Amino acid sequence: MCGIVAAAAGSNIVSVLIEGLKKLEYRGYDSAGLALLAAGGIERVRAVGRVAELQTAASGCSAHTGIAHTRWATHGAPAEHNAHPHVSGSIAVVHNGIIENYESLRTELSAQGYVFTSETDTESIAHLIDATLKGEPDLFAAVRSVCRRLVGAYAIAVIDHQQPGRIVVAREGSPLLLGLGEDGNYAASDASALLQVTRNMVYLENGDIAELTASQVRIERLDGTPVERPVHVSELSAAAVELGEFRHYMQKEIFEQPEALANTLEIIGGAHSIQAGIFGAQAAQLLADVDHILILACGTSSHSGMTARYWIERIAGVACTVEIASEYRYRVSVPNPRQLVVAISQSGETADTLAALRHAKALGQNKTLAICNVPESAIVRESMLRFITRAGPEIGVASTKAFTTQLAALFLLALVVAKQRGQLSPVDEAAYLDQLRHLPVAVHKVLTLEPEIAIWARRFADKKHALFLGRGRHYPIALEGALKLKEISYIHAEAYPAGELKHGPLALVDTDMPVISVAPNDELLEKLKSNLQEVRARGGELYVFADADSELTASDGVHVLRLPEHYGLLSPILHVIPLQLLSYHAALVKGTDVDKPRNLAKSVTVE
Ligand code: F6R
Repeated sequence: MCGIVAAAAGSNIVSVLIEGLKKLEYRGYDSAGLALLAAGGIERVRAVGRVAELQTAASGCSAHTGIAHTRWATHGAPAEHNAHPHVSGSIAVVHNGIIENYESLRTELSAQGYVFTSETDTESIAHLIDATLKGEPDLFAAVRSVCRRLVGAYAIAVIDHQQPGRIVVAREGSPLLLGLGEDGNYAASDASALLQVTRNMVYLENGDIAELTASQVRIERLDGTPVERPVHVSELSAAAVELGEFRHYMQKEIFEQPEALANTLEIIGGAHSIQAGIFGAQAAQLLADVDHILILACGTSSHSGMTARYWIERIAGVACTVEIASEYRYRVSVPNPRQLVVAISQSGETADTLAALRHAKALGQNKTLAICNVPESAIVRESMLRFITRAGPEIGVASTKAFTTQLAALFLLALVVAKQRGQLSPVDEAAYLDQLRHLPVAVHKVLTLEPEIAIWARRFADKKHALFLGRGRHYPIALEGALKLKEISYIHAEAYPAGELKHGPLALVDTDMPVISVAPNDELLEKLKSNLQEVRARGGELYVFADADSELTASDGVHVLRLPEHYGLLSPILHVIPLQLLSYHAALVKGTDVDKPRNLAKSVTVE
């Protein structure tokens, strides 16, 4: 959601800004802009639509210092006058996040004679910096005193044509990191934007303010205390964020799942037993008297939590609750200091999940675990225990490999908690670990079904609605399938536990309603078959994903695809793959923007 790139270097930085913005496109945006320190003052270029349009508009520009931004509209429509950077006097600013006190700032600044030309909250930051510079001419000091007045979340980057060569950045709540290069220094919302110039990254903390020039970087706290932050050498390869042979990032990421799972599961190696330490040094001690598990997450990550609930209760015998983070943070709940609070997030920056985690801690629940794909993210830093999924960068807005690697991590959690409670026999432990190790191969086999799934997708891509059914631990997989389909193909989709059909949704079923069913060969298959009969009897066309060894057969109006292996408790990890492929191919047929679906952002850093 919104992206920042800033550069101060010895050579022309315009292409660095543009390439950086392209790498941040996946975060979601509807307009883009840049501001450069040019000879005559600030040169600003803004465009609604894609970064490619900004690139055309900025061709011929040249500068050694500049800031750039992709905007995902919150305050004010996606329009050029609302696009960042915002300029006031000699300064320009780009901003991610939401300033909650912008209305009172706007009133105050309007009374001082500032004329607002946008509906954004960001413009008040620009005018406030300009007003502050009148009494405090040093840009660093002025930005620091402005930050002290801002309420809400922000990452900002500011330039001033009266103070050439300098960029001042600050963060509170929204992600921002610095890149230390040979020819210059840089800042961005995430590392992928800066890999083109450096691998040496410095992650800023909330309350940090920094100044960059081509040759120097200094960081202070907002109270003026100088701080040193460690330099991390990014392990991301530039190739990891390139599309390569694939048409879309989503397709690439679906096919990267065997590798992503293998990397995530490398931590168990060839061992026959599992150690609590894979969740952090303090895990054994902290998990010892856990009596309940509370999972907090949003969207796809909440579906991995819902699946894990079945594993945790069945294997470890510990009660588990899954709450949508945006609800939990505002709900009056009964705190339980003995419960383990698990925050699941691909990005680790999702505002609602982070706020829910903080809320849980504020209630005295300090046993916290982050399951996350980004090691330096806020959710990881604010949790006691951590498990980093090693899915690699997920660029497509629709989450795929992050989901399956979260599931693998959560299965490990179920095993560790079970073992701690004496609920896991050595034989079962070794068998589960073997199954996990075989997962990459099993997923690879499922991916070979793509051509048949693409044919199915063509059959129902012209439909307006679709119903997804699952039971037990595959109900969350049905939910995930419905979410994938609606977000990238814009086909309205709902998911139900199949037993709920006759309590309402059966009324929707007619010949125009494709019904997709996750039907593994498990203890609920016979029940599910009866539910499918109810659909077929009302004319609904069934698309059934079964296992190799199940007795379901195709007939008129009933299409059956068999997954190559029957995978027991871990079967949700295999059964979600065809649903990802189905949505992807339906979106291809519909011609939607698969990697950047309308109205959505990858990293939802505002409420
Ligand atoms: C759907 C999707 C979203 C995210 C949700 C949480 O495909 O990607 O539903 O799962 O916004 O994001 P994270 O996992 O980054 O907290």
